[in-house]
Amino acid sequence: MLQYIQETDFLEQKSMDDTSKTAVKVVSEDLPESPLRSKIPHDSEASSTFVAFMDDSARASETSPAEHVSTTSKALDRWFRERQKQNAQPRLLEIPNEALITGAGPLRITGNLTLVSEEGKVSYANHIDLCRCGKSKDKPNCDSQHLDAEFLHSGRMQEISDTAASDRPAKITLSCNKDGPVTFRGRLRLHNSMGQQCTKMRGALCRCGQSANKPFCDGSHDKTGFRSKR
Ligand code: FES
Repeated sequence: MLQYIQETDFLEQKSMDDTSKTAVKVVSEDLPESPLRSKIPHDSEASSTFVAFMDDSARASETSPAEHVSTTSKALDRWFRERQKQNAQPRLLEIPNEALITGAGPLRITGNLTLVSEEGKVSYANHIDLCRCGKSKDKPNCDSQHLDAEFLHSGRMQEISDTAASDRPAKITLSCNKDGPVTFRGRLRLHNSMGQQCTKMRGALCRCGQSANKPFCDGSHDKTGFRSKR
């Protein structure tokens, strides 16, 4: 099951802080009144593509910055759940797709995410912690098994960008491959705490924990007999 934005996770992440700042900034500047508003398609991509705004501006003026972020994260979470219940495609949020390679932990991906399971089930989210140690019992989500497994990886990466970085919002599709990596299509900026970053339009993300080219797959899952359903 997808991990939606949790309040504590949200507060821990710079990228999600940016998300809430963006949402609140836009709302406070342009749409001061209602609790949830939509705007017309902001580009020519598709008629189903909109920019959504979560209006927390009223509460924001009464609360501290930390409370403010928390409220917005709850609104985003609620909004995605409601869209999922309706079996509808989420609207495009004004956030770029980003993946933080945590040291010895999961890949924290934020953005306009479409997740396709191994069985072909489609779901939507704007945050997922992707297991990359290979030990999670809730794959592709992280369930903190990397702690017991003593997964070791600093988060350093060797790859370089194959496209320019952009702050423009875009969709990205993450597909879980049976006994293999999670592949993605769509602009994704990967970064780590060492200041490294690279932007790619497609790629394969290791989730067996054995790649020598983390966070990308190098085919090691075949040699190590990785099973994604274990
Ligand atoms: S999934 Fe780890 S090397 Fe391919």
